[in-house]
Amino acid sequence: MLSKKMEKALNDQMVFELYSGYIYLSISSWFKTQELPGFANWFRVQAQEELVHGMKFFDYLLEVGGHAKTGAIQEPPLTFKSIRAACELSLEHERIVTSNINKLVTMARKEDDHATDNFLQWFITEQIEEEANATANVARVKMVENDGRGILMLDAEMAKRVFVPPAAPAEA
Ligand SMILES: [Fe+2]
Ligand SMILES: [Fe+2]
Repeated sequence: MLSKKMEKALNDQMVFELYSGYIYLSISSWFKTQELPGFANWFRVQAQEELVHGMKFFDYLLEVGGHAKTGAIQEPPLTFKSIRAACELSLEHERIVTSNINKLVTMARKEDDHATDNFLQWFITEQIEEEANATANVARVKMVENDGRGILMLDAEMAKRVFVPPAAPAEA
């Protein structure tokens, strides 16, 4: 049984995951305007992953008898000072998400809500990868930021990322 407090916190995180998607769409769009289609692709894929994360909260809330409330999504920044600034924003954002997920696990444990704790463990693992990817992007951009050819090589690398849709959950 989901407590009202837990339901509210999971709803807030659902909206925050969708906001993550919105930030990454904004970054993707901005990179396209900078003629960096590889970076644009990487962040577009990232946005698609965040929408999947949001849907996981949506589905979980409904599965445990809660109400998934589609609250307002904030407007993200629309332009960025530099390639590095856009990548740094993404790293800062992922750190906030990790902290949110950690707080949700703490809340679930205080309430002896083992189902929600178990559900959240997927996100604990996911955030390790999310922070690692964002950290790598910042580090690589720093290595080459004053070298146009380096940026173009990195852009070609970022173009290779492909969105892999999640497998459909097995029917019980
Ligand atoms: Fe996420
Ligand atoms: Fe993320």
